[in-house]
Amino acid sequence: MNRDAPSCTVDPASIIILGAGYVGGSLLARLQEMRKVQKGTLPFQGERPLSETAATHRKSASGSCVFDLADESTWTNPPLAGRRVVWTFPAAPLEQVRAFYGRHLREASALIVLGSTSAYQMSPAQAALAPSIRENAPLDTTQPRVQGEEWLRSRGATVLRLAGIYGPGREPANWIRRGRIDDGARIVNLIHVDDIVDAIIAVLEQPQPACSINVADGEPLAWRDIVARLRNTGALPPDFVLPESGPGRYGKRIDAGRLRELMPGHVFRRLGGSGLSTQDEDSFPHRTDPGRSAG
Ligand SMILES: NC(=O)c1ccc[n+]([C@@H]2O[C@H](COP(=O)([O-])OP(=O)(O)OC[C@H]3O[C@@H](n4cnc5c(N)ncnc54)[C@H](OP(=O)(O)O)[C@@H]3O)[C@@H](O)[C@H]2O)c1
Repeated sequence: MNRDAPSCTVDPASIIILGAGYVGGSLLARLQEMRKVQKGTLPFQGERPLSETAATHRKSASGSCVFDLADESTWTNPPLAGRRVVWTFPAAPLEQVRAFYGRHLREASALIVLGSTSAYQMSPAQAALAPSIRENAPLDTTQPRVQGEEWLRSRGATVLRLAGIYGPGREPANWIRRGRIDDGARIVNLIHVDDIVDAIIAVLEQPQPACSINVADGEPLAWRDIVARLRNTGALPPDFVLPESGPGRYGKRIDAGRLRELMPGHVFRRLGGSGLSTQDEDSFPHRTDPGRSAG
């Protein structure tokens, strides 16, 4: 995909983003950029305003649509009938997911749900032996979000299982410096937020109903290797080392073959390459992702 000239055969105004957080906000920004580029050149009817590309927050913020899965009174706020919906937060609990689907979401024309590679059920010992994890690997169905995702998938949703997310404001170098990564031997699978947005757009353009797709950069690395790269780029001091549980490596290796088939020729951003930002504002929102289990 050419990163300088965004294009999309899907009308951005047909998309509703449930949750304008880190990924949802980046998707919204990309769709708005596309809308500007496409305005006047689209095969779409009319020129709908950008505000029709709705993205939600749980609390009222300027110009945003309020939607909270936990609050039924907000369920009718985003217009879902005939829209392509991108759901960006854990699809749980199952009862609420089912109720929301039954009353409103079923009217959407397509649904993409963002999940996590931490859905795969695998002990460190099993992971050490497994070559790589494809989408048909066993899932940990005790996780409420996995129950919700699989239920929605059985109704035609596409579930994107995301590896550890990084990008501007979410810097692995900061996680490491702040002591959030405690074992250099552990393998992690990462994905840049812009590549997640590219993957979502690829699925919008080429629908994959009832399918799950791993979204990772295809380069599982031990944290010690990531530290070495970040030392080379100057993001970490030259003498920086992580504690190590042992000389080997362990952890899941996520197979991204299905994603690559969907996005032939796409060049995934690499940590330590041009996609790495140096902004210092940081968040590490999921203690299980990516330093622990996602990826
Ligand atoms: N961080 C990682 O490394 C990682 C790895 C794998 C998968 N994931 C998963 O990937 C997805 C996207 O991650 P992200 O970093 O973009 O998440 P995020 O920044 O926390 O954004 C989540 C968005 O969903 C909204 N939201 C949360 N709970 C909601 C609810 N009950 N009802 C309605 N809206 C709700 C939030 O609303 P407000 O704007 O009001 O806060 C926010 O806009 C998440 O499901 C996350 O668990 C994360």
